[in-house]
Amino acid sequence: MSSELHNDRLLRALLREPVDRTPVWIMRQAGRYLPEYRELRAQAGSFMSLCSNPALACEVTLQPLRRFPLDAAILFSDILTVPDAMGLGLYFEPGEGPRFERPVRDAAAIDALPVPDIGSELRYVTDAISLIRRELAGQVPLIGFSGSPWTLATYMVEGASSKDFRHIKALAYDQPEVLERLLNKTAQAVTAYLNAQVEAGAQALMIFDTWGGALAHDAYERFSLRFARQIIEGLIRERDGRRIPVVFFTKGGGLWLEQIAGCGADALGVDWTLSLSEARRRVGDQVALQGNLDPSVLYASPPVIQAEVARVLAEFGHGSGHVFNLGHGVHPQIPPDHVAAMIEAVQAQSPAYHE
Ligand code: CP3
Repeated sequence: MSSELHNDRLLRALLREPVDRTPVWIMRQAGRYLPEYRELRAQAGSFMSLCSNPALACEVTLQPLRRFPLDAAILFSDILTVPDAMGLGLYFEPGEGPRFERPVRDAAAIDALPVPDIGSELRYVTDAISLIRRELAGQVPLIGFSGSPWTLATYMVEGASSKDFRHIKALAYDQPEVLERLLNKTAQAVTAYLNAQVEAGAQALMIFDTWGGALAHDAYERFSLRFARQIIEGLIRERDGRRIPVVFFTKGGGLWLEQIAGCGADALGVDWTLSLSEARRRVGDQVALQGNLDPSVLYASPPVIQAEVARVLAEFGHGSGHVFNLGHGVHPQIPPDHVAAMIEAVQAQSPAYHE
């Protein structure tokens, strides 16, 4: 795939190279806050039927780009396709979030898990990526992604979303080596999966460690960060003469930022619990930063949104190395007009930081 990239702000900012303005995209930019998404999902019947059909996944990926001048597309899929490919049986209960038919809670189940054959089990994802790249025709880069082994394991062991993580925490404290075997196997699957995404055309990668912040400080290194590092070491980092930047995002990981900055990623995702000025001071020149507007700001009126965008831009300050984003995914009840106001504000205000 040699199509020229017309807008490479995202890739440049992730590598802390000069840009004319701060690039912007938003986590969950394709999704339920868009009426055209809700319509297509209703037609398709379910979220998984969108994900597993490359033409529909491509269409959904492009929906937010038709509305907003975003600087990146992100593959429309889910982090839980990897455990699904490992045989756990993913399904979505309407209004309840994800569920697994066969959670893995003991050594026997964990040791019996296969490392999936990405080329066959997750072919629908790599086919979607090839199609999206073709449709994008170099308009903006395409981000591929995966969950971190720890975050995937929380769903694999709990069998669903959890507030207290009781099963996986019991496993972590009672039989840490068994949990490490699960994390290691999952890390191998994730490495192969992300590399397959790069081979299919993903131009940047993001690893979501949504539940890393639920771990105790020493457990974070042992059960999350170590496996993220292992994955990043195994990734293809250059393709068609361009570096493939990697973003690592631990939600709730602000306390450990210095430690996380050494994981090998080019950039860190930052949630809204710390200021980007503090984050920047703490990571120095080691990594770029992506974030971190509180997603709830988008419930407020456009003038407030503009002022909050101004604050986030000012907190990062002058120079490259900032990708504007929310601190977590956009909420389903946000009016699309408010998203537009946020993106316009980034476009209008950020050139001053790159003079
Ligand atoms: O950012 C994007 O636009 C790309 C698409 C994307 C989805 N999920 C689509 C989705 C990405 C990057 C994800 C990642 C994901 N999935 C994470 C990590 C990032 C995060 O947000 O913390 C996690 C933990 C999941 C697991 C998952 N998938 C949950 C907990 C849910 C239910 C959440 C909810 O809000 O109901 C999903 C379903 C899901 N994944 C939806 C979308 C658009 C909603 C599906 C629907 O009802 O249409």
